[in-house]
Amino acid sequence: MLTAGVDIGSLATKAVILEAGSGQVLGTACLPGGPRPAELGRAALETALAEADAAREDLSGVVATGYGRQSLPFTRISVTEISCAARGAHFIEPAVRTVIDIGGQDSKVIRCDEEGYPLDFALNDRCAAGTGRFLEVMAGALGTDVEGMSRLAQAADEPARITHTCTVFAESEVVGLLARGAERDAVAGGLCRAVAERTALLARQAGIEPPVMLAGGVGMNRAIAEALRDVLGLKLIVPEEPQLVVATGAAVVAADRETSSAAPREEGRER
Ligand SMILES: Nc1ncnc2c1ncn2[C@@H]1O[C@H](COP(=O)(O)OP(=O)(O)OP(=O)(O)O)[C@@H](O)[C@H]1O
Ligand SMILES: [Mg+2]
Repeated sequence: MLTAGVDIGSLATKAVILEAGSGQVLGTACLPGGPRPAELGRAALETALAEADAAREDLSGVVATGYGRQSLPFTRISVTEISCAARGAHFIEPAVRTVIDIGGQDSKVIRCDEEGYPLDFALNDRCAAGTGRFLEVMAGALGTDVEGMSRLAQAADEPARITHTCTVFAESEVVGLLARGAERDAVAGGLCRAVAERTALLARQAGIEPPVMLAGGVGMNRAIAEALRDVLGLKLIVPEEPQLVVATGAAVVAADRETSSAAPREEGRER
């Protein structure tokens, strides 16, 4: 049985095609965000289907999630990112009890049970501080992109202290630090450290139970993963493709719904 998960995030749209019987991921896609979420969702699904050498008719179910999940016309089911992050993390590593998802626009910490269902979560969706968007703006101020920023930060001996969490003030602070001769790698290191510290605060709010998985596009930033390990003082599982965890979870939910005649389990709190 083939199912699909489509995660329409604020900065990127992801799709995963899952062969539920074998538990194999056959196709994936990740497209940059844009103003038309429905078209992006469709395009991501088609790209992932092409990689899986399959067609829309081969799919037993499609579940949409993410910020733009209500906009997909061809899915009848949409599920919150909280549930999908928990299901996806459990599918990838069944032992996981806490998922930290740092995306473009918000960050979430989800505690889940032994079957991969959410027990509780904490969410920062009030401001860009500590999110992927914050990192994109700061990378621009450093004259690089998010990948380059991660490399710079890893090379830093002594991270600079960044005092502002607000994106606008932090950007001015970075420009000021560079103007006063601070090394770019030290500033990048300080910024990654600041995001890790902010995420750790959120994690403590939700309560952290190990093992912990880091998901979302920011999981590709190795400097942040390392800083977060350091700040939390525990091992962090970073899957091969952290940005696809939520879309994978959506495909798992689609498979669950096809195979189970029982009413689907509801998550604790709706976003
Ligand atoms: N190669 C990379 N290295 C480091 N960071 C990256 C890389 N690619 C993407 N990112 C980060 O991932 C972020 C996007 O992550 P993701 O796709 O999880 O967000 P989203 O799901 O669209 O957002 P949200 O869940 O908040 O709606 C970008 O803002 C960027 O900071
Ligand atoms: Mg997301």
